Amino acid sequence: TGNLFLDPAFVNTASCDSRITYIDGDNGVLRYRGYPIEQLATHSTYLETAYLVIYGDLPSAAELKTFEERIRRSTLIDERMRDLFRCFPRRSHPMPVLAAGVMALSTFSEKSAGIEPDQVENATDRLIAKMPTLAAFSYKNSVGQPTLYPDNSLSYIENFIRMSFGFPTEAYEFNDEITRALEVLLILHVDHEQNCSTSTVRMVGSSGANLYSAVSAGTNALSGPKHGGANQAVIEMLQGIRDSGMSTREFVSQVKDHKSNVKLMGFGHRIYKNYDPRAAIIKEHADNILKLHSGRQDLLEIAQELEETAMSDDYFRERKLYPNVDFYSGLIYEAMGFPVNMFTVLFAIGRLPGWIAHYREQLATSNKIWRPRQIYTGEQERAYRPVDLRP
Ligand code: CMC
Repeated sequence: TGNLFLDPAFVNTASCDSRITYIDGDNGVLRYRGYPIEQLATHSTYLETAYLVIYGDLPSAAELKTFEERIRRSTLIDERMRDLFRCFPRRSHPMPVLAAGVMALSTFSEKSAGIEPDQVENATDRLIAKMPTLAAFSYKNSVGQPTLYPDNSLSYIENFIRMSFGFPTEAYEFNDEITRALEVLLILHVDHEQNCSTSTVRMVGSSGANLYSAVSAGTNALSGPKHGGANQAVIEMLQGIRDSGMSTREFVSQVKDHKSNVKLMGFGHRIYKNYDPRAAIIKEHADNILKLHSGRQDLLEIAQELEETAMSDDYFRERKLYPNVDFYSGLIYEAMGFPVNMFTVLFAIGRLPGWIAHYREQLATSNKIWRPRQIYTGEQERAYRPVDLRP
């Protein structure tokens, strides 16, 4: 094995140079292309942030307009792809349906299913434009409702909300606060450097596979509960506390007792040893959104009390465990009307520009296929025995 260095789970291994996202976990700092996440969440739009992350700089007014136009023109999916959704069982989980939809998209445009710069550019537009359409169709399929065509007079976020919650025969009424909260949540999820799904995208891309293959693989990586699924676990934990009638103090005592194997979901992070800056922003929006839905505030109140109880406890202080991005995001999604199995799909829409940016950065800077080594711990050489001579 020579001088191989074993690093399970890549805890201490940097796989690449990257100019996209900066994280300082000790001080709770997150920046896309140098811009603090707080400023982007306050002032930017999802499409502008996508442009920033993919192309490296904020667009001029003209560049933004052209980009938005390019996306607007590509939101429809081929009619035969609509038929594809009918093949999945009613009420299929929307996440595998989304991943399959992304992969199927590559077969509907030979122009973009390659790695030449113009092909990647075309695939970038198509993926950003069609992801909300695929996500909304996956959702409608999962709840057994008719799908809606995109309405390109609407904004990117409005279009997705309408395709998710509208019905073909009824006008859909938007709530500005909900539209903006969803936009902010997507902005906060746009990139987070070498997380599991983004590293998957880079790994697949390193083989020379096209952008659709890499993004579809990233979507599947995101589906795991240790990655995209934690926000669902938070909702289930809060419901459990509510339904059992126990106090947050009692729950925190259970968490501290290691034997119980109960974790405070939505707390702690491999990199942040301080308040996750995304959680601070989401918390404010959760407050506003849940005010619109009296009756849904019980879980928010439990979450806020749970945070207070944990943050004043030595167990959490000593281990530097703070709320992460998932602690409040599920509450907002739930209040918007999304079922828990859609939470990871929303994460995927948010993360898409990050995946694309990393794929393109890799393509532009390295043509080496990723190929980690291993330390072999199996049998030494032994001789083959025919089956009738084996014990
Ligand atoms: N509740 C109670 N104790 C915890 C928690 C928690 N949520 N997180 C960590 N600890 C304890 C852990 O038991 C250990 O204690 P000790 O030193 O006494 O053995 C100590 O804190 C260090 O934890 P660790 O498991 O070594 O930390 P890690 O970096 O391997 O794990 C984590 C990070 C996020 C997997 C973990 O904090 C966790 O399971 N949190 C709950 C699940 C969650 O919210 N996940 C979302 C992550 S953010 C979304 C994303 O990026 O995809």
